Amino acid sequence: MKIAMVGSGYVGLVSGACFADFGHEVVCIDKDPSKIERLNAGVMPIYEPGLAELVAGNVKAGRLSFTTDLAEGIAGASAIFIAVGTPSRRGDGHADLSFVYAVAEEVGASLSNDAVIVTKSTVPVGTGDEVERILTAAAPKHRFAVASNPEFLREGAAISDFKRPDRIVIGTDDEWARGVMNEVYRPLFLNKAPILMTSRRSSELIKYAANAFLAVKITFINEMADLCEKVGADVQDVSRGIGMDGRIGSKFLHAGPGYGGSCFPKDTLALLKTAEDYEAPTRIVEAVVKVNEARKRAMGRKVIDALGGMEAARGKKVALLGLTFKPNTDDMRDSPSIAIAMALADAGVQVSAYDPEGMELAAPMMPDVTMCNSAYAAIEGADATVIVTEWDAFRALDFERVKALMNAPVLVDLRNVYEPAEMRAKGFAYTGVGRG
Ligand code: UGA
Repeated sequence: MKIAMVGSGYVGLVSGACFADFGHEVVCIDKDPSKIERLNAGVMPIYEPGLAELVAGNVKAGRLSFTTDLAEGIAGASAIFIAVGTPSRRGDGHADLSFVYAVAEEVGASLSNDAVIVTKSTVPVGTGDEVERILTAAAPKHRFAVASNPEFLREGAAISDFKRPDRIVIGTDDEWARGVMNEVYRPLFLNKAPILMTSRRSSELIKYAANAFLAVKITFINEMADLCEKVGADVQDVSRGIGMDGRIGSKFLHAGPGYGGSCFPKDTLALLKTAEDYEAPTRIVEAVVKVNEARKRAMGRKVIDALGGMEAARGKKVALLGLTFKPNTDDMRDSPSIAIAMALADAGVQVSAYDPEGMELAAPMMPDVTMCNSAYAAIEGADATVIVTEWDAFRALDFERVKALMNAPVLVDLRNVYEPAEMRAKGFAYTGVGRG
């Protein structure tokens, strides 16, 4: 089967490469000529473990190609995926659907065979209806149906998430479209991946509800962490204790500096906007958005406290280990490190930093921060070291060396990578998250 993927960003590229790996013929389309040129030269526009190899293997096998020409790319495709960005619209937080609708218009104008048009982009409820309207208005000569098929990939683990999904959600009431989508995902059905066939609107909402629920879970445990600090409890144990209840589940209960990234902040906000429009407010999500936003800067204050308070902190040096919103990505969008660096700079603290992949994107966002070429270079002369992102490279630091390099042995571990008692035994003043 031929599949066209319009939009070769994170979602389009990973999905396209994985579909090709299943044996489909895939064309990834993007209007950015430099991106397509680089992809044709084997250069990935994003950092994602295993992606470059997957792309190279499928290009070599003749199953995956890249083009800027949409009409040529979609010709002969039975499924045309729309996987373009839906950023927050400037000013109001609604999802900006202009890219999605532009693709729908172009597809409508150049459809040259029967095809199912599938929105993979994260789009608010009702977007599929509008895409259908746009396509109908373009009066294509061929049969089409519009389906929703949200993605649930995590950055840094996207390929395994795609190949071993918890579930596949397909939203359409059209029997023919369901048949085509079954064909698209056949290799995964054979692996017994659960599939949920539902209406298009339900499918669109599932995506937002899933991300919002995960954001709620994280924020809940973060607030429990704050309470743990006050009452002398350990949030790691609280997490374990509640997570063992199958109804709650143990995942996404790691307390930390607050969620960031390209999805949770944007999608929770967009869900609030949809809920407002339909006069069905989602107050829990409203609170989560506010609490999470405030938490990021509060983590800066936590570091300042570890330095001895505002007065003592001025002129001191802090090393940030990890800048990306999570490990195994170079993505800096809404990363807690940005608010933390800002809060420290506002308090007159000098900040140095190291991140294995994120420094290029981070540097322009935090001009006052000195970027270093290793964790140990960042730590040198520091009055406090802060683990902001739990990259593997920071999980086994040589603490003798760290102590020798630092001006004072103060460790603020915002990801609870280390055991407080062990760190204290090594002579560090240790602050974790929720470890009262
Ligand atoms: C998230 C979802 O997990 C994916 O299912 C979804 O497909 C994706 O958004 C999307 O909508 O495209 P992602 O943003 O890549 O994926 O990252 P996550 O692994 O979910 O982490 C998000 C943030 O939550 C990170 O800042 C992470 O550090 C934080 N987090 C996560 C915690 O603080 N604690 C946890 O227990 C889990």
